[in-house]
Amino acid sequence: MLETIERVEPRRRPRRLRATAALRGLVRETVLRPRRLVAPLFVVPGRDRREPIPSMPGHERMSPDLALELARRLARLGVGGVLLFGVPDAKDETGSGAADPGGPVPETLRRLRDADLPLVRMADVCLCEYTSHGHCGVLAGREVDNDRTLPLLAEAAVAYAEAGAQVVAPSAMMDGQVEALRRALDASGHAGVAVLAYASKHASFLYGPFREAAGSAPAFGDRRSYQMDPANGREALREMALDAEEGADILMVKPALTSLDLLAEARRRFDLPLAAYQVSGEFAMVEAAAQRGWIDRRGAALETLTAIARAGADIVITYFAEEAAAWLAEEGA
Ligand code: PBG
Ligand code: ZN
Repeated sequence: MLETIERVEPRRRPRRLRATAALRGLVRETVLRPRRLVAPLFVVPGRDRREPIPSMPGHERMSPDLALELARRLARLGVGGVLLFGVPDAKDETGSGAADPGGPVPETLRRLRDADLPLVRMADVCLCEYTSHGHCGVLAGREVDNDRTLPLLAEAAVAYAEAGAQVVAPSAMMDGQVEALRRALDASGHAGVAVLAYASKHASFLYGPFREAAGSAPAFGDRRSYQMDPANGREALREMALDAEEGADILMVKPALTSLDLLAEARRRFDLPLAAYQVSGEFAMVEAAAQRGWIDRRGAALETLTAIARAGADIVITYFAEEAAAWLAEEGA
């Protein structure tokens, strides 16, 4: 009896193609490329100013001159783009700093444009880094007023386009924000500037480190009246369809690792390029476990990025961009 079991020979042997590194390389389905990675950068006013971000080891807020230096390194590594977030020194009720052409985001954009680096210049468009209350739009009482927020977002997007943004990325989750930006860009002579829509953005606990970095935690309440319930997937696909209809050029999902199902489904449903944002908390989880020696940092980072690409993302926005690009070059990817 036992003898026959020992002699069983499988009719199919998938292990054949896993035998050597060269064979595995030949049949690998998903290959990460630095070109597909986008590095988020936090910029502050001033010169030669850098402030480490405790919850995001290796990352710092930096002034536009230093951001340019970092962008040069990223460009040399073949990273595809940078996504700028501004952290102003002063905030007000309406987040007026967001559209200030003298703010750190426009200044960095102008420097990047003048340097003519082979990097796509992207700017996040939201009010939360600029409002005294930390919400993503203007308030009417304790509610975020959707329609009064739209022109302010549009004004910020136009200011970034003027300064050299090639892609603007509205992240406030206001209804109609993509259309509002598209119209304002077209009307101001920036028909060539693309809109990367934060189309499926869940109200996530994984944004924690970012809010420390940007000083943008809401002073009261939370973002659940505008960001989506993480329990909802069909709603996420409706949001993506709406943003596509409103004229988005690229659709984004975030957080990435909690949206792999949505990426896969969106890949089937939409022909637009898809982006995924591996958010600050996803970075911090890998980082914290690695610091304790509980996880292999490089392995875990590349594995998560690969899974995001495998699920359907063309573009991956990640705090590992610089390192991942260097690792991929080392691997000859
Ligand atoms: C601002 C914005 C946030 C992120 C991107 N744009 C934070 C938030 O919505 O609170 C999160 C990015 C990250 O966690 O890395 N609207
Ligand atoms: Zn916001």
